[in-house]
Parts: sequence; C-alpha cells; structure tokens
Amino acid sequence: MVKKYSVKEILDKEFSILDYKVIVEGWVRSYRNSIFVILNDGSTVKNLQIILSKRMDKRITKEITIGTSVKVIGIIQKSIGEKQNIELKCSDLIIYKSVDSKKLQKSILQPKQHSLEKIRNQSHLRFQTNIFSCLMRIRHFISFSIHNFFHIKNFFCLHTPIITAYDCEGVGKMFRVTTLKNNLLDYSNDFFKRKTYLSVSGQLEAEAAIIGLGKVYTFGPVFRAENSNTTRHLSEFWMVEPEMAFFSLKECIDLAEEFLKFIIQFILDKCIEDLSFLNKNLKKWDKIKNNFLIKRLESLLNISFYRITYTNAIEILKKNKTIRFIHPVTWGMDLQSEHEKFLTNYYFKGSPVVVFDYPSSIKAFYMRVNDDNKTVSAMDILFPEIGEIIGGSQREERYKILLNRIKKFNINKNILWWYLDTRCFGSVPHSGFGLGFDRLVQFITGMDNIRDVIPFPRTPGSAEF
Ligand code: 4AD
Ligand code: MG
Repeated sequence: MVKKYSVKEILDKEFSILDYKVIVEGWVRSYRNSIFVILNDGSTVKNLQIILSKRMDKRITKEITIGTSVKVIGIIQKSIGEKQNIELKCSDLIIYKSVDSKKLQKSILQPKQHSLEKIRNQSHLRFQTNIFSCLMRIRHFISFSIHNFFHIKNFFCLHTPIITAYDCEGVGKMFRVTTLKNNLLDYSNDFFKRKTYLSVSGQLEAEAAIIGLGKVYTFGPVFRAENSNTTRHLSEFWMVEPEMAFFSLKECIDLAEEFLKFIIQFILDKCIEDLSFLNKNLKKWDKIKNNFLIKRLESLLNISFYRITYTNAIEILKKNKTIRFIHPVTWGMDLQSEHEKFLTNYYFKGSPVVVFDYPSSIKAFYMRVNDDNKTVSAMDILFPEIGEIIGGSQREERYKILLNRIKKFNINKNILWWYLDTRCFGSVPHSGFGLGFDRLVQFITGMDNIRDVIPFPRTPGSAEF
C-alpha cells in the first residue's frame, strides 16, 4: 500500500525517502511549462516540486491552475534543480477541484504582491497565502508553548465561563447576552433570569480555583465592547491568565518574565523557517538589517526586563525634553500609548519594561492596596512597539479592604458575593496576570496590525467572516 505523507514530512525526511512511492495532497502554488507543479499543503512554508510526465492526459493538465486541489502519486527522486534537493516524479494526478479563473483574477490568490489590507478583506481565502499561513503556524506554536510552560510548572488549565453576570475589570465595556426580544430590562424572563454578558476575563473564577488547586491558568476568548479602532485592539481576543496561590507581586513579575522568554525561545527553536519567510517578505523589514525580526527576538532573551515603579515612570516622563506628549503627564493619570512608547522605544532603548505600584484609583477593584494607601500592587509589562502586553497584580485577600474597594468602585456587592466569600475560606496572599495572546503573536511576528494575526478578527463595525 502506498503511504500518504505531508509536504513537511517528505521534506524533513529528504534523502532518506528517495525512491519511495508516496501519495501527497495539497494545492497548486504555481504551474509552468505544463511540467512543473509547485505544491503546498499548509504543513510548512516550503513547497514540494512535482514533475509531471509529458505523456500525462492533456484533459487533466489543462485544468491545473493556481489554487487547484490535487492528489499526487509518484516517486521521490533527487532534483537536478538548484532550488530543492528532492522532488516528486508524478505517475498519477487526480484533481479534486479546480479554481474559477474569473474569480481568481480578483482574488488574493492571484500571484502578485497584495497589501495586507486587501488580504484581510478576503479573510476566508487568506489561509492559502504564504504570509498568513506562516502567521497561523507561529500562532499555533505560541499557543502550544504556553500550555507546555504551565504544564512543566505544575499549573492546571482551567476552563472558565464565557457567559458571566459580572464585570471583572469594572469598566463596563461588556456585550450583553440575552434571549429577550423586547423589554430588555425584565431580566426575570431572560434565559438565565439575570443580566448576563460575554466575559472580559476569567480571573475571578481562577482566583476561586487556586484556593484548593494552588496554581491554575485560563486560556480562552474574552470580549470587550470598547470602541477602540486601533492596531492593538480586538473586540474578541484571547487571553492567558495564570493565577498563583502564595505568590507576591515580585514572584508574579519573575514568573511573567520567565514565561515570555520561554515562549520566545520555543518559537526561535521551532518556527525559524516561518520567521525567516516573514523577515524576507514583509515590506517593513526590507530597509532594515538582515534577519532583524529574528535578532530582535534573540536579543530579548539576553536582557533582564527593566522594572520601575509607576512613580518613577512619571518622573522619567516629566523630565523628558525629546517628545511633546499630547496627554500632559501628572501623577495619578493612566499611562497613554504615547507614554508607553516613549518608555520602551526611547528611554529603555527597545527593551521591555515592567511598571508596578500604580495609583489605586486607576486600577481594578481586586488589586491589593499597598501600605501607602495610595497605590496598589499592580504591574504592567510594556513591550516595544506593542505597549501593554501583560497586566497583572497581587490580589486583595483581606475581606474588609476588598469590600471597601468594591463599594468605592460602585460595584454591586450582591453580584460578587461568591468572590467575597472566597476570602472567608482559607484565602491566601495570591497573584496573577493576563497576557494578551494576540498582542504577543503580533510582537513575535512583527506585524503592525493585530487583525493580521487572528483568523477572523472582530472589531467595531466588523464581523463579516
Ligand atoms: O490588563 P487587562 O485588562 O487585565 C485583565 O483583564 C486581568 N483580569 C488580567 C489578570 O490579572 N488576570 O488585560 C490583559 C491583557 C492586556 O495587557 C493586553 O495585552 C490584552 O489583555 N488586551 C487586549 N488585547 C487585544 N485587544 C484588546 N481590546 C485588549 N484589551 C486588553
Ligand atoms: Mg491592563
């Protein structure tokens, strides 16, 4: 029986598979002289060259165009061409489906340079492009490395609900979930008999789980109805939220730094071909030094992230004479993206920065109040180009102080009763953080727009695909 192989398996085996008869299936990337078919099946950025026989049925060869899906049977042989070591000498080719040539003309599969925006506008076809398939493979490996990291560290993966009754971040930017057709205010007739939303975070449930499980992490979609049409915001994005019992803020920051470096090392080990492809083919790297995308990841592994207090950050920003900020700098304000950029891109010269101990008034109710009574044990990790990639904190484990903060933020304590209740049953000092998964994919792949690193982006006014 002839065995089926993926393109990646064949190319990885190289000479050890010479003279084997194999079956391989995929899509035609290019076709020339009625002989050479370049085949890709998504398993790798590399293609397999197929040599058709001159005696092949013309009715079949006539139908082959870019994008045609095919099954090929043939023998692996040494290639005389310089571009590849091995190729497949075809003995039989079956066409699954050819491509509508008129539609091809207008599609992003037409072999020429298309803008990323045009590619995005045909989201259903973009998996067939080299750039997007590279991005999706890297996205997979990042996700895999995250599960790997936490598994090695004895964390348990926790599936938290997508439909919730409360606003974890307390910013009121939630999508409502209802089956009511009219009178949206009469919750007693609604499906859950209460007001429900799509969750903005799985943190509160993770906090409940660690009293008992010790260390957990969530990895799921979260939803935010912010009207932010920027290159770093999605309305539906993926967040990774580890939560650790008996962890101080310092231990939490140490873990976050180790975590990010682990992922980057993993991607450098496993995805070098895809990274190199992006490096060569993304216009923005053209003008910069060779292998910049890869060197920039490597350099990150060799430095310790800078760590400064929020108060320090404000002093640095105030002293700055280089850049005129749109938002004037005062203690107590939230850092804007221009301030984050100044710190990472200019002041710390492209290095990640951890900012901690933020004013209590600008951070969420669950963060632990520091002894100064003005700040909370919060931390944000800022990355060059991206800005905030991680947000986390030590959590307020003291019942009374937590209750006071809930009241201060005008949050309905009856809805959060169970969260408060966890503080009465062996609560411990604990910390956690949330990683914006898509922002990390964006940073690692060097993409300018977050919509280019997620299969089907949801943003204000856009949910077509
Ligand atoms: O800082 P955030 O809002 O933190 C939380 O939700 C906490 N509950 C996390 C925790 O402590 N367990 O969000 C965490 C991260 C941000 O640092 C950012 O990287 C990303 O999520 N993020 C977004 N990514 C894409 N689109 C958006 N609209 C995002 N909003 C936040
Ligand atoms: Mg944040």
